[in-house]
Amino acid sequence: MSVKFIVVLCILKCCFCEDISDNNLTLIFKWNTLELKWPSKERKTQLMDEQKYIPENSFIRDFKLWKNWTYFTIPRWKKGIPITLARIPTELNVLPTSPPLEPYPSWSMQTLDDCFALQSVHSIDIDKDGQLWVLDSGMVEELRVNRTYCPPKLVIIDSNTSLIIKEAVIPANMKFNNSILTTMALEREKQIVYVVDSNYYNSGFIVYEYQTGIFKRFLCEQLSPDEDSSNINYIPPNIIPEFVSVSLNTERDKLYFSTFDSSDLLYVNVSVFTRSVNDISSFVVNLGKNGRSVKLISDSKGYMYFNIVNERSVAQWRESSWVFQYTPHIVVQSKLLCHWISSLDVDDEGYLWIVSNRFHDYSKDNFKLEKENIRIFRIYVPRKEKPKRPRTGFNAEYVVLILFLIIIGLIVIEILMFNTD
Ligand SMILES: *[C@@H]1O[C@H](CO)[C@@H](O)[C@H](O)[C@H]1NC(C)=O
Ligand SMILES: *[C@@H]1O[C@H](CO)[C@@H](O)[C@H](O)[C@H]1NC(C)=O
Ligand SMILES: *[C@@H]1O[C@H](CO)[C@@H](O)[C@H](O)[C@H]1NC(C)=O
Ligand SMILES: *[C@@H]1O[C@H](CO)[C@@H](O)[C@H](O)[C@H]1NC(C)=O
Ligand SMILES: *[C@@H]1O[C@H](CO)[C@@H](O)[C@H](O)[C@H]1NC(C)=O
Ligand SMILES: *[C@@H]1O[C@H](CO)[C@@H](O)[C@H](O)[C@H]1NC(C)=O
Repeated sequence: MSVKFIVVLCILKCCFCEDISDNNLTLIFKWNTLELKWPSKERKTQLMDEQKYIPENSFIRDFKLWKNWTYFTIPRWKKGIPITLARIPTELNVLPTSPPLEPYPSWSMQTLDDCFALQSVHSIDIDKDGQLWVLDSGMVEELRVNRTYCPPKLVIIDSNTSLIIKEAVIPANMKFNNSILTTMALEREKQIVYVVDSNYYNSGFIVYEYQTGIFKRFLCEQLSPDEDSSNINYIPPNIIPEFVSVSLNTERDKLYFSTFDSSDLLYVNVSVFTRSVNDISSFVVNLGKNGRSVKLISDSKGYMYFNIVNERSVAQWRESSWVFQYTPHIVVQSKLLCHWISSLDVDDEGYLWIVSNRFHDYSKDNFKLEKENIRIFRIYVPRKEKPKRPRTGFNAEYVVLILFLIIIGLIVIEILMFNTD
């Protein structure tokens, strides 16, 4: 019976799908290879001569908009990447532009093999006070060799002053020697970060609280990719675990996540992290298929956005408090997004920003210098205010539901009457 009901709802949903168009996608930034803001021409030439700057090896993974700046992460996946965290002013006067990236917070913080400096940054976020949270995986050159010299750490930088407020090295007893710490979700109000350890064998969350400085580790087996996921031919198997998307919905106190190799959207109630349990795997809820995605974000209005790799699209979903239905809604689908989408963000005005790049070419060392390899678009995405329970206006789903219940009621009555005969 419930299956039939779901089928009816699905048919209705498809009839009401909104038109999808790419007319409103605006190209903001584009680069063939990332250009950097050098202290001098000589320095650039010197680093190029020493093979410490190989332009086509720098690649944007994550980004964050804050005030008038856009912050970027450039993981040191390969050799010749002189900076791993950068920013540029977000100027919308002349579009599109290809501005040079400024090392952030400074050049000296980018020094390779200096464990106080940043080694390889994949993931960033900004809390309520404008503090930039930086997750440094410590791993470098995963696409060439496996080299780890410095331990992974969290670095917190005041974006007002660019001063480092805190460096918190992830303690040795919180991780394993095969740990992969490249993604995190930040609780921006409470300043608690959930770092994903997505290795193949003993995956989990490492939770760090800014106020207390305490780290805790929780096992979560759903974060491990399947070992047979190595059939995803465009990503080297050793970096597949780096692609876990995770996002916190503070309105619902749920931590949503999805591994790249599965296409399931999962969540766990964040209150489990306050319990004295070591393994939270049994508390994880599977919501169903959402397509393979790389990035999952939540905005301040409780909407979630995630990309769907195979459909060249970004979907939006908002969990309603009074009816549970997991039906994401595609907000942009475009041939302009046919490349890899590596990150998303939403600004204060309601624009969704999308980083699209040629990761497939990059990971296969097949980068073509003459192409626009990294692009950032934005598009206005309407968001309704919180849906309130007594909704006005025609809603076909509920009319169908009521008709359906009436029919079931009639059948039940008929059966009962038949039985009394
Ligand atoms: C583009 O955005 C405007 C509002 O900014 C909206 O009215 C229009 O319908 C959008 N067009 C498409 C094709 O989505
Ligand atoms: C951003 O820049 C504009 C003009 O350049 C300025 O008026 C505005 O105050 C800036 N906003 C912030 C938050 O710094
Ligand atoms: C940065 O400045 C804003 C307003 O100017 C302030 O609200 C915020 O607390 C400051 N952040 C820090 C970390 O001091
Ligand atoms: C790095 O290590 C992993 C597992 O130990 C291995 O599968 C992978 O091939 C290595 N990568 C390189 C580039 O050597
Ligand atoms: C990882 O740790 C295990 C013991 O926990 C050890 O046997 C193994 O040699 C270590 N591997 C590396 C690469 O250090
Ligand atoms: C999360 O857990 C807390 C404590 O067990 C409970 O009060 C709350 O309702 C749960 N939230 C959800 C969304 O299940």
